[in-house]
Amino acid sequence: MVDSIYRRYSSLTSKTVMRLVFLGPPGIGKGTQAKMFSKKFDIPHLSTGDIIRSEIEQKSSLGLKAESIINSGHLVSDDIMLNIMENRLQQDDVKTGYILDGFPRTIPQAEGLDKIIERLQQRLDAVIALDGDEETVIKRISSRRSCRNCGAITNIHIDSIKEEGKCNHCGGELYQRDDDKPEIIRKRLLVYQKQTEPLINYYRNKSLLLKVSGMGTIKEVTNSILLELE
Ligand code: AP5
Ligand code: MG
Repeated sequence: MVDSIYRRYSSLTSKTVMRLVFLGPPGIGKGTQAKMFSKKFDIPHLSTGDIIRSEIEQKSSLGLKAESIINSGHLVSDDIMLNIMENRLQQDDVKTGYILDGFPRTIPQAEGLDKIIERLQQRLDAVIALDGDEETVIKRISSRRSCRNCGAITNIHIDSIKEEGKCNHCGGELYQRDDDKPEIIRKRLLVYQKQTEPLINYYRNKSLLLKVSGMGTIKEVTNSILLELE
């Protein structure tokens, strides 16, 4: 088993360029899996949620505009997101591929991304759509803590935390996101159904969609994604 997974990783990592999108409802594990694949394939993980949270932390003009939007569970405007991603996708470190997490999130964003990658003479390899039930994702989000220093994602009910309130990887402070309150999680799920779920058909029609259940353990989900990518 370990051997066959290793062989799978080896054959995939031999690809020089890999451009993936991770799609799915809040809390399904996009960030967790994207971080894992970013490390394995040595390509950057671009999370628009992380980008916006960092702008909020720095109190930039974008951060000041986005803070109340993100904390109410709504989406930041398509124009702002497309502008951020157009700039980001032209940087040198993403020349050999990237993993998009949380972007695109609306049909106009997906159409905008198509235009950006066409201008850059690139193409997407696959869109991995993780799915799962609402009860599970609410439970996962409620027990999520993020590291303020290295961004690692921890689940207080699954991971054994070495020191209370501290990240196992770097010792940084673990915090709960402001948009992880139960009423805001429900709002984010509704926004997902209305504005992001239509992307499943959008990418199915482009033959890029790989549907994967996000309901197993973290390792099981990783292996299911690898099987689909083979
Ligand atoms: P974003 O940060 O993208 O949040 P999200 O989509 O709501 O998703 P989450 O980050 O909450 O969940 P996840 O799927 O990454 O799960 P995770 O791996 O952490 O966006 C936040 C906000 O920013 C948006 O609401 C919007 O306002 C704004 N925004 C961002 N992008 C935008 C865009 N493109 N356009 C407009 N606005 C945008 O896992 C969750 C927990 O579960 C963790 O504790 C983890 O340890 C655990 N876990 C993961 N996998 C498993 C497993 N298999 N089994 C058990 N536990 C698991
Ligand atoms: Mg995330």
